[in-house]
Amino acid sequence: MNGTSSTQYKRNLEELLNLKRSAWHNYIRAAKLESFSWRNAHKPLHYQLKAFLNSMVWVLTYLKYRFGMRHPFPDYSSERVKGIYPLSADFSPNGAEEDVRVSLAGDWGTGTLEASLVANLIRRFRPHYTVHLGDIYFVGNSNTVRENCLGNPHGKKFHAVTWPKGSRGTFALNGNHEMYANGHAYFDVLLPNLGMRAGLGSLAEGQKASFFCLKNHHWVIIALDTGYNSVGVPILERTAYLKKIPHLGGDCSLPHAIIRWISKEVAPELDGRGVILLSHHQYCSAFEGRFIKPGRQLFGLVRKPVLWFWGNEHRMAIYGPTRVDGGIEAYGRCLGHGGMPVNIHTKVRVNSKRCPLVIYDDRQYRRISGTPVGYNGYANLLFRGRRLTIKYHDIRLEDNVLLTETWEVSNGTLVGKDIRINTPDPGLIQFHPDLRYAIEPPLQHKRGPVLV
Ligand SMILES: [Fe+2]
Repeated sequence: MNGTSSTQYKRNLEELLNLKRSAWHNYIRAAKLESFSWRNAHKPLHYQLKAFLNSMVWVLTYLKYRFGMRHPFPDYSSERVKGIYPLSADFSPNGAEEDVRVSLAGDWGTGTLEASLVANLIRRFRPHYTVHLGDIYFVGNSNTVRENCLGNPHGKKFHAVTWPKGSRGTFALNGNHEMYANGHAYFDVLLPNLGMRAGLGSLAEGQKASFFCLKNHHWVIIALDTGYNSVGVPILERTAYLKKIPHLGGDCSLPHAIIRWISKEVAPELDGRGVILLSHHQYCSAFEGRFIKPGRQLFGLVRKPVLWFWGNEHRMAIYGPTRVDGGIEAYGRCLGHGGMPVNIHTKVRVNSKRCPLVIYDDRQYRRISGTPVGYNGYANLLFRGRRLTIKYHDIRLEDNVLLTETWEVSNGTLVGKDIRINTPDPGLIQFHPDLRYAIEPPLQHKRGPVLV
C-alpha cells in the first residue's frame, strides 16, 4: 500500500500520548481509540458498529481479559525444529560468512505514522531478519494486532502499517500489552503470520513460540519472553508488599519452559560464540524500575557478558556493563522508541552502579499538545563473520544514523571495538564522560569510579 489512500489510516501520536503503566488505564485508552475508529467513515459499517459497542463496554472487556485465563505457553516439545534457526543470509547451510542483516524495534505496534516510517526505513535496509521487541497498543487483542502489525484488519489490505518482513525470518516478542489480552491474539493471530521462510519468496512458516534462537558460526541471538509473566493478579498486583510474591505482581520471570530449553538446546551452543539477548523488559534502567529476575534465572546458563536489547521504556538508551547480584553481566541497549510518543526531558537517576547510563537520546522531535516528544527509531545490525556493527537510526529520511558501535567475537567472548556518535545534535546526550564505557570489558576488570 502507498500513496494518500493509505496515510489516512495512520494514527496520530497524540492518541497515544501520556500513557500510564496500569492495565485498567490501557483498557480505557483502547476503548477511546475504538471510538475514534467509529468516527472514521472509511471503515465498513459492521466495524463501526462493533467499535462503538466496544468503546461502551470497556469494563466488560477489562473483566474478561483480566480475570480470564492466559493463553497456554507454547514450547518446542512437540516441534521437529527446537526453535534454533540459522543466522544466515541465504538458504544454503554454509552461508555463515556472508553479511547478515537484522533489524530491531521495540514498542512499535501503535499504528502511528511514525511506526510506518520506522517500518519503511527498516525495509530500506533489506534485512534478512526482523524482530519486534514487543508491545502492541493499547491492548493487544486480535483487532489491534491486525491493524497495527499485519496490515489487514478485516481481511482487506487497506491498512498500511505492517511489521516489515525479513527475507529469511520475521519475529515478534511478547510484551505486557499483548498480555493485557492474555496473549491470545499474540499467539493465535500474530505468530502464525511470522517465522522463518523455507525458501526465497516463500511464505513464513509461523513463529512457533515466543522464544527462539538464531545462530551461526560466531554468534548466538537468544530471544526471550519476559511478557508472559509480566501481568499479575488484578488489584493485588498494585499492592507494594504483595507484588513481591511470585506471579502475583508480574515479575517478568522467564517461564520454566524457556529455562529448560536454554539449558538443553541453547547453552551447549554458547561456547566460542558472541551472545546477544533480546527481550521486551529491561534488565536495568536509569529512568524507571528494572526487572532483574530473568537475568538471575540465566545465571549459570549464560556464563559470559552479553549484549542485551530490550524495549518497554519509550526511549533510546545505551548502558555500560551491569550485573545484579546473582545475575548475568550485560551491556544494555534500550530500543523502546519504535512507535510510541518518546519520553524526553525525564529525570535521570545519577550515581548509581545499578544503571550505568552512557548515552541517551533526548532530542525533541515535536511538541504534542504542549508536551515535547523525542524521535522514534530502530537499530540495524550487520553481522560480518566475527564482527558486528550496530547502527541506531531515527525517522529522519536522511543522515538518520545517531550512533554506531562495533563488536567482535574474540576467544569466544564479546569485545567492544569502537563506538561513536554520528550526529552533531547536542540533544543526543553523552551522560558518561567516556563513551567507551558502553563497550568496555566486564566490571571485574575495571578500576576507578563507575559513574560520574
Ligand atoms: Fe511494555
